[in-house]
Amino acid sequence: MKNIVIRLEEPRDYLIVEEITRDAFWNLYCPGCNEHLIVHNLRNHADFIAELTFVIEVEGNIAGSIFYSHSKVVDKNGTQHKTITFGPVSISPQLHRQGLGRLLISHSIAEAKRLGHRAIVIGGYPYHYQTYGFVGAKKYGIAMPDGNYYTGIMALPLFDGALDNVSGYICFSEAMETDKSELEAFDESFPKRDKLIVDSQAEFEKASSEIDDNDYKAV
Ligand SMILES: CC(C)(COP(=O)(O)OP(=O)(O)OC[C@H]1O[C@@H](n2cnc3c(N)ncnc32)[C@H](O)[C@@H]1OP(=O)(O)O)[C@@H](O)C(=O)NCCC(=O)NCCS
Repeated sequence: MKNIVIRLEEPRDYLIVEEITRDAFWNLYCPGCNEHLIVHNLRNHADFIAELTFVIEVEGNIAGSIFYSHSKVVDKNGTQHKTITFGPVSISPQLHRQGLGRLLISHSIAEAKRLGHRAIVIGGYPYHYQTYGFVGAKKYGIAMPDGNYYTGIMALPLFDGALDNVSGYICFSEAMETDKSELEAFDESFPKRDKLIVDSQAEFEKASSEIDDNDYKAV
């Protein structure tokens, strides 16, 4: 059996984590990617949650990582309710579908619970995250700032009733946004790779604008 270790990220991991993040996201959701810069910037941002940012090692080599940041739900009175968000999360492409992502994500969720966080709200493909108990954030009345409920915005309460009376719009950390020229300059420090247009980008574009028309009250 392989020796698998999940531990907090340390400074000695920064470069390899950024390289793996870039490898995992490259051309997946757009030509190139910005997730390696998000990771790089997030570590120094006020929204960064260091105690939930883990790497997973296989036989002593880093195979992937998960990053967490503070987010919030703003209700109709302007009251802010603290939530947390994970992402980027990535596993080395050659190690996909071997259960490493599941180990890493499950570990981080258990730690988030243990540390007393209220709920995790994320953006992503439901087929990646339903398996951990995430449901459309619409179920809790949590929309995007444009007022729409999307299937790709999901929530996981971390204790019973955690999202009762918490509805409004979700604000993810501004650290998830990157500047185009900063990205170009940062990317220069990595091996050159071609930016391509591939099918997964159209799938992502379609999925990220899909409105959640589930009637959760009827369930
Ligand atoms: C998403 C990611 C971290 C998952 O890591 P992984 O180690 O491949 O995932 P696991 O093998 O632990 O899979 C766990 C479960 O997630 C789901 N899943 C993972 N990848 C999937 C895929 N490509 N299609 C459908 N379901 C998938 C499945 O339910 C899977 O369980 P199963 O293999 O028993 O069916 C990895 O694919 C990755 O790095 N992707 C590129 C970056 C990315 O898209 N990150 C998420 C951004 S929202």
